[in-house]
Amino acid sequence: MSFTRRQILTGLAGLGVVGLAGSGARYWLGRPADITTHDYELIAAPLDVELVPGHVTPAWAYGGQAPGLELRGRQGDWLRVRFINNLPEPTTIHWHGIRLPLEMDGVPYVSQLPVLPGEFFDYRFQLHDAGSFWYHPHTSSAAQLGRGLVGPLIVEEREPSGFRHERTLNLKSWHVDKQGAFTEFSVPREAARGGTPGVLSTVNGTHAPTLDLPAGQVVRLRVLNLDNTLTYRLNLPEGEARIYALDGHPVVPMPLGKEYWLGPGMRIDLALKVPEIGTELSLRNGPLRLATLRSVAYEGAAGDWPPALPANPVAEPDLQRAETLRFNFEWAGHLSADVEQGGAYTFWQINGQAWDINDKTCADRPIATLKKDGHYIFELRNLSQYQHPIHLHGMTFKVISSNRRKIDPWFTDTYLLGKNETARIALVADNPGVWMFHCHVIDHMETGLMAAIEVV
Ligand code: C2O
Ligand code: CU
Ligand code: CU
Repeated sequence: MSFTRRQILTGLAGLGVVGLAGSGARYWLGRPADITTHDYELIAAPLDVELVPGHVTPAWAYGGQAPGLELRGRQGDWLRVRFINNLPEPTTIHWHGIRLPLEMDGVPYVSQLPVLPGEFFDYRFQLHDAGSFWYHPHTSSAAQLGRGLVGPLIVEEREPSGFRHERTLNLKSWHVDKQGAFTEFSVPREAARGGTPGVLSTVNGTHAPTLDLPAGQVVRLRVLNLDNTLTYRLNLPEGEARIYALDGHPVVPMPLGKEYWLGPGMRIDLALKVPEIGTELSLRNGPLRLATLRSVAYEGAAGDWPPALPANPVAEPDLQRAETLRFNFEWAGHLSADVEQGGAYTFWQINGQAWDINDKTCADRPIATLKKDGHYIFELRNLSQYQHPIHLHGMTFKVISSNRRKIDPWFTDTYLLGKNETARIALVADNPGVWMFHCHVIDHMETGLMAAIEVV
């Protein structure tokens, strides 16, 4: 594949970038977006944050925030982001869950060249689907996402959805010690198991925050799992909450129930009927409190449950004529010969092949080739003792069955494949390109559990 640096200029002179000095802040903010060329000027740069009280963590941030600035667009509109790399190393942005042309997908050496320090890249694509999405690099992912380069991308429905209030809750557990210093983002012994977990859980960058919500109203809570490793066992005891969308795509509203397993990369849109003033609810991961939701005074008539959200325009796979492809996800621990020389560990395989994160040519050998506009069923078999949130770029798929639980089909971009589970997903291969297909436990992905799927 060949790339052009047409859109990439070296140096930031003339961009009108303003550095903020003082108080230890080292990040950069762009001037207001020039609306004739782009909607956002998004800068990635180092930023000191206080995650552990009284201590500094040298995070990396998008738009001066970690997790990053919330980007918003409207369904049907174009999103134009001028991305500026002020980090000390190359990076890219991948738009997780967004159906877009390959050139905008942010995978280095597959869809673009890495954006070098001091360069910018203009991302622009049309927003076909409404919902809760997110963005992150696709280079040195364990470290770059681990340092804070993760952010929400919210696509509003074309017409008002019926929700009058909403909050975005970005979940991330940081790899830091008691002094706020970063610890290893990926430890081989953990990568070979469930992945390397962080220890400091945060919502929107704060440990166990209290969030005020308007009493008597129905609030849309967009809960995004932007973590490298953790599956959150989300629950809201005593809360009256319904699920409205999974991974951006609407579902028939249903009660949250006891617990929802939100794997890395996954999102859930909840409607919460906020109780009377002064009530505190606890949003939890299993027994652990993630945030306190406190109801505060609000003037206005009590809200009621909005109608279901309108479906996104995703092509419906025809199961009768679909071709079935099988994918086995396996643990295959062996040390690659050159780990001592900086080579990658490979612990995981898809159909007997491990992706080598250092080999820029892997995508030239796709694991499957789909015919454009063909209908496919993927049978996903997990032969390991660990769960894997399986994610596909470029196309949305429908979960249709599992040997482990009852499936009410839904559209998604990430399916949490349980240990020893076999599940079937279906899709119409309507987006030509070379698309990454990988586990979203970042250190599984970086130690083999990734492949390319080609649509021609
Ligand atoms: Cu969020 Cu390659 O993915
Ligand atoms: Cu993705
Ligand atoms: Cu995995």
